[in-house]
This record gives sequence, C-alpha cells and structure tokens, in this order.
Amino acid sequence: MQKVVYFSDITQIITGVVAGFTLSNALMHAFPKPIHLAHQFVRNVVKAGDIAVDATLGNGHDALFLSKLVGEKGMVYGFDVQEVALQSSEERMEACGVEAFEFFLAGHERMADFVKAEVAVVMFNLGYLPRADKAVITTEQTTLPAVEAALALLKTGGLLTIMCYPGHEGGDVESAAVVKWCGALAREDYRVAQFGLLNAPNNPPFLVVVEKSC
Ligand SMILES: C[S@@+](CC[C@H](N)C(=O)[O-])C[C@H]1O[C@@H](n2cnc3c(N)ncnc32)[C@H](O)[C@@H]1O
Repeated sequence: MQKVVYFSDITQIITGVVAGFTLSNALMHAFPKPIHLAHQFVRNVVKAGDIAVDATLGNGHDALFLSKLVGEKGMVYGFDVQEVALQSSEERMEACGVEAFEFFLAGHERMADFVKAEVAVVMFNLGYLPRADKAVITTEQTTLPAVEAALALLKTGGLLTIMCYPGHEGGDVESAAVVKWCGALAREDYRVAQFGLLNAPNNPPFLVVVEKSC
C-alpha cells in the first residue's frame, strides 16, 4: 500500500532534521575537537609580534593559524621532513599574503639549530600528512627530543601543544611515550594536561598541553 505523506508530516520531518542539525552543531561547539581546543589554548597566550613554531608543517593549516595571531611584526618558524609539506605550506602562506615566516626542510628535533630566540608557542600535530605517503610518520625517537628542544625555547608563560594520534600503527607507541615523558615534567616548572574523549572507539586523537610556568 502506498504511504501518503501529508504536509504536516513533511513539516515535522524538516523541523526534526533542522533541530537535529542545530543540536549536533551546538554539541560540537560545546565539546570541541582536540585540535580546536589546541587553537583555543594558543589564542590565549600568543600576541601580535610574538614568535611561534609549527613543528610539523604538513599542509600549513596550523602555520597559517599562527601567522594570523603573531601578525606581520611577529614570526612563524616551521619544520617538516617532506618537501611536499614545505611546498604546500609555503603556497598556503603566500596565497594569504603572509610574509613573516621561515620554513625548514629539517626534522623538528633540530629546531634549536634554526630558532635562536625565545618563542611564545610551539605546536606539534603528530602522525602523517593526509593524502601523502602514510609511511612517513612522526616517531617517539625524534618527537621526544623535539619536545625537549621546544621546551628549552619557550619563554615563561609559553605553551606547547601536542596533538597525538594513537589510532594508526606506531601512533599508539608514540602517543604513550609523549604522555609518559610530559607527565614526568617537574610540576614546579610546568603545568601539563591531557584532553580527549574517553568513550570513543578506535583510539581517538587527544591533546597534550604544556605550559612553562617559570
Ligand atoms: C599531521 S601532519 C601535520 C599537519 C599540519 N600541522 C597542518 O596544519 O596541516 C604531520 C607532519 O609531520 C611531519 N613529520 C614527520 N616526521 C617529522 C619530523 N621529524 N620533523 C618534522 N616534521 C615531521 C610529516 O611529514 C607530516 O607532514
């Protein structure tokens, strides 16, 4: 038998869909993704004229975000081990008219060789470059020395944000190492926190934030 859909049914359906969409949007905003949380933490500390570091350039989204905060009198330094990442990040900055940046085709564990001033923030977004070679991933062996180098560059009140992705092979080991290493930092000198969903499947991403308190 053919079902007749009345106008009031359609109105109810549309109202339901819109309400559901609005509700899910509202929930998304009430409960931000870890990367958006990272951006919020960074916004809290970075001012115009500051120096910031993107330790894993990838496609340059975070570098562009940082450049908007530090402005033309500030500086964004960036690192990646893949030529394609540097190219894509440079194109993104240039397309937006950003000039105050310097990117290096070098591992972030070498950042102290290139950055010679105190910095307000260092952002790490670990893992692999989306839509590129997924065999090139960040690893504990270079990430931990890089995190240590980043802390040495941070000014007092400065912030380190580390997006961890335990869901891919190798990412679980690296993420656990980051948590262990950062969690062991002296509480007189640093405040360390971890943010992520506890009840999502497949090892969801989480954020580690370190504030240099003195
Ligand atoms: C998830 S992506 C970064 C996303 C990026 N922040 C963005 O906004 O698009 C991770 C990046 O880390 C890079 N990477 C891997 N090992 C690295 C290392 N030792 N030093 C610096 N970057 C590295 C990868 O090449 C990849 O581009």
